[in-house]
Amino acid sequence: MPNDVFSKDSLQEDVEQIELRPKYLSEYIGQDHVKEMMHIFITAAKHRNESLDHVLLYGPPGLGKTTLANIVANEIGANIKVASGPSIEKSGDLAVLLTSLEPGDILFIDEIHRLPRVVEEVLYPAMEDFAIDLIVGKDETSKSIRVDLPPFTLIGATTRYGDLTAPLRDRFGVVHKLEYYDQAALEAICKRTAKIYDAKIEAKSVIELAKRSRGTPRIVNRLFRRIRDFADVLNDGIIDLKITKTALEKLQIDAMGLDQKDHDYLRGLIENYGGGPVGVESLASSISEEVTTIEDVYEPYLLKMGFIKRTPRGRQATEKAYKHLGKTYQGGLFE
Ligand code: ADE
Repeated sequence: MPNDVFSKDSLQEDVEQIELRPKYLSEYIGQDHVKEMMHIFITAAKHRNESLDHVLLYGPPGLGKTTLANIVANEIGANIKVASGPSIEKSGDLAVLLTSLEPGDILFIDEIHRLPRVVEEVLYPAMEDFAIDLIVGKDETSKSIRVDLPPFTLIGATTRYGDLTAPLRDRFGVVHKLEYYDQAALEAICKRTAKIYDAKIEAKSVIELAKRSRGTPRIVNRLFRRIRDFADVLNDGIIDLKITKTALEKLQIDAMGLDQKDHDYLRGLIENYGGGPVGVESLASSISEEVTTIEDVYEPYLLKMGFIKRTPRGRQATEKAYKHLGKTYQGGLFE
């Protein structure tokens, strides 16, 4: 859909956002607790001349997991190799990656919950002992040889902490959840982006944009660029409240930051299932969306904002959701 501004990944967008990424912790806005902890662990590791312990970052998409991994590499002064769970198909692929590392390097694996099980098992000794066991030869003549690796730091990122196996989870010494950003942090990120692009933006527009960005820096930056397009074409490049509101309306982002997909979800839940409870699979197929996208991208924010509840019998729309869509709420009468 053309206005799906919350769609998960777009290569073009990633390229556009790279120039906006902070490179050091001091430039990184928000996530104060994570920042404070990472600063201590990085400083301690550097002080002792050791590699940093393995780090697991989890939380909804767009909150800065990849950015943080790159920052860690910059702060340490190490190289970073980037891979993603589904792209490492065979244990040999991972062995190639691991044996190419230099001492102190960072290996970043995005969507680490999607690593095939056989590949994951290669990671265990790599993380624990900095070694891998390679099988050489075939059948009766095959034997396992241990290959030492340089000390390295694995940074894993996932939107689904619960999908990680316990043995993998247990091998990370540092585990952090990234939270949705508050209004002040989003405003600061928006102002920073405007400065990088040398764009003029009114204070009221900054507030409005931050309000409608679902607590997510990736979205604040994406909306900023789209609104700047409107301002460039229709308003001499000046981003004021009027052009901001016009653009957001055209982009079909509502006052709470919900987009068409969120509306499809809530409407599907209310109109097709009387507000629930309904299982996520049924809901997903009724709005032609993948279950994982619904669970990873849409639901976390709808839950946080109190538009839906998760119950043992499935998803349920709250009174707030009915009100937001201008519908009469009749639930609760018999509860
Ligand atoms: N751009 C994207 N995320 C950011 C963050 N957390 N701080 C500063 N700039 C950002």
